[in-house]
Amino acid sequence: MDEKRSPLMQKPDYLVCTCMEVMYSQIVAAIAQGKDTFKALSDELGVGTGCSSCVDEVMQILQETSKPECNES
Ligand code: FES
Repeated sequence: MDEKRSPLMQKPDYLVCTCMEVMYSQIVAAIAQGKDTFKALSDELGVGTGCSSCVDEVMQILQETSKPECNES
């Protein structure tokens, strides 16, 4: 298996929004470009504009990705 990863990504890529075919990596990349609200992501990628079942997942990714890293010991 070769999983695509980028330094920004904390887990392997997967399809988050099946309606708009938006991958996890696209959401992480958009957040990195400053689209750090659900509305901004929705406007940019279309997430949540179909069945809305991905909204919770997108919110979770937003929280995980926007969180400052505090892993220093
Ligand atoms: S899965 Fe995202 S709007 Fe349906």
